[in-house]
Amino acid sequence: RRRRNAGRDLHETAVNRRLGILISGGGRNLQAIIDAIQDGRLDASIAVVISNRTDAPGLERARDCGLDTRCIDHRDFATRERFDRAVVAELQAHDVGLVCLAGFMRLVGPPMIEAFPNAILNIHPSLLPAFPGVGAQRQALDHGVKISGVTVHLVTPELDAGPIVLQSAVPVRDDDTVDTLSARILVEEHLAYPAAIKSVLDGHWRVEGRRFVVFRPN
Ligand code: GAR
Repeated sequence: RRRRNAGRDLHETAVNRRLGILISGGGRNLQAIIDAIQDGRLDASIAVVISNRTDAPGLERARDCGLDTRCIDHRDFATRERFDRAVVAELQAHDVGLVCLAGFMRLVGPPMIEAFPNAILNIHPSLLPAFPGVGAQRQALDHGVKISGVTVHLVTPELDAGPIVLQSAVPVRDDDTVDTLSARILVEEHLAYPAAIKSVLDGHWRVEGRRFVVFRPN
């Protein structure tokens, strides 16, 4: 039974712990990952930080920490596929084992998913499958849910729809605004992302249908 999905989605052995972090903005999740590595909560290294925006404040943050950074501006590419291929080339040049989307606001296409099968993570500020896409916190408030949260999931070709690695719930208050709800969710994001990365890097998991399932080694 353990080997039913043998091959592509069976991760029993230790993987390459070199992370490639993709950002578009503030890089607060990037900072949470840096902190977790420095505190010894996460056994990994950041091989490269790539931004699709030259003005992403996260790039500055990464440089301040002495990390290798690259800016690959999607507007310089005629197609998304070419942009994706350039990103893949940079990740491979840095021998990245796990790609972490951290506020990366571009759809990830087939070239990237084929180059990193079941090895791309995304963080999203809602309890998926509720409120995918942009403005998740605004969507949650507009819908009137009483509980929202954060999801870390494996990236598949469908937007915000891959197997869920970890979720944390966050209460929505009657007086919440997008800003106050986002801030409360961010606290959980910063705990969830390093924890989810650790789970994936530690191995002993497989994907069963839609489910990310951890199993105890014999
Ligand atoms: C985070 O809240 C992240 O969950 C969200 O963007 C923010 C990025 O902040 N991501 C998405 O909405 C993805 N659809 P950061 O750049 O400061 O980490």
